[in-house]
Amino acid sequence: MNELEENKFDLKLFRHQPDAETLNAQQEEIIRLKKEKNAVILCHNYQIEPIQQVADYVGDSLGLARQAAETEAEIIVFCGVHFMAETAKILNPTKTVLLPDIDAGCSLSDSCPAPQLADYKKKFPDTYVVAYVNCSADVKALSDVICTSGNAVQIVNNVPENREILFVPDQNLGQWVMGQTNRKMKLWPGSCYAHVLFTKESIERCRLEHPGAPVVAHPECVESVRDLSDEVCSTEKMVHYCKSNPSEKFIILTETGMMHRLTRELPDKSFIAGPTGNCACNDCRFMKMNTLSKLANCLETGGPEIIMDDKIIDQARVPIERMLDWS
Ligand code: 13P
Ligand code: SF4
Repeated sequence: MNELEENKFDLKLFRHQPDAETLNAQQEEIIRLKKEKNAVILCHNYQIEPIQQVADYVGDSLGLARQAAETEAEIIVFCGVHFMAETAKILNPTKTVLLPDIDAGCSLSDSCPAPQLADYKKKFPDTYVVAYVNCSADVKALSDVICTSGNAVQIVNNVPENREILFVPDQNLGQWVMGQTNRKMKLWPGSCYAHVLFTKESIERCRLEHPGAPVVAHPECVESVRDLSDEVCSTEKMVHYCKSNPSEKFIILTETGMMHRLTRELPDKSFIAGPTGNCACNDCRFMKMNTLSKLANCLETGGPEIIMDDKIIDQARVPIERMLDWS
């Protein structure tokens, strides 16, 4: 297990323990079932550590979408949230896609209901819609291209210059992309309830406690937090940044599951889970709905399964494939 130490500001300090990969009986059973059923376990960086340990692939939304597009397994068990499992289904309509907890949603995805986007498009029919992958399949079906935090800059740079862009649903990622690309966009007023909890004050306090530790933030954080960070990037790029930076300690501003991935890949470095405004509560309640028991149950019973309308699958696949072509 990773050691979790509390310091005087109630921050969580993660250090890798050499026995971290020891598997328990339930994990061994999951691995056995996975082989028996020809299933692949795709796992987002925010999942709990015991799930990350049994996964075939752990990564960010972009990496997971790529893996989903390439897998030859008959069953995809998606350890993440609903929109991610939907993306896997859209890319593999004939395969069975399972999500251990079917209610694992996303506040950001919920902030952009498809009927509202459809109304906007009626009013402004020439708008080019760039949708962050954290949105429903219905919203994807209304969009021109999808992006993730890992490729958003590249995707926006590819949009024809004469088109006015509406970026949905994350205003913080959209605002950051505008700064990186110098491209004006209309921003949908959505946000991630977990990432907006980091504040400038809480991070400045943390910096005083850990002088010299680079601050690495997810672009879903608010502007004042991004501005004081040394690096702003997707969860996957955080691993690369921390690997290539000579510092031994980093302050990480994203969901806490990321710490497991970082401590596993970089056992000689340590990571501070950045504090939020009033507490250290940067867990995504949706990501944490999946558990080892639900994962085992999912493999045993073949459910809960992602079921989607064929027409939505066909419409939503177009902008996702465009993204995969462009990045
Ligand atoms: P990444 O694509 O960077 O992994 O982010 C996904 C997400 O849901 C962030 O909150
Ligand atoms: Fe959605 Fe935020 Fe959770 Fe990511 S961290 S899945 S954006 S609620």
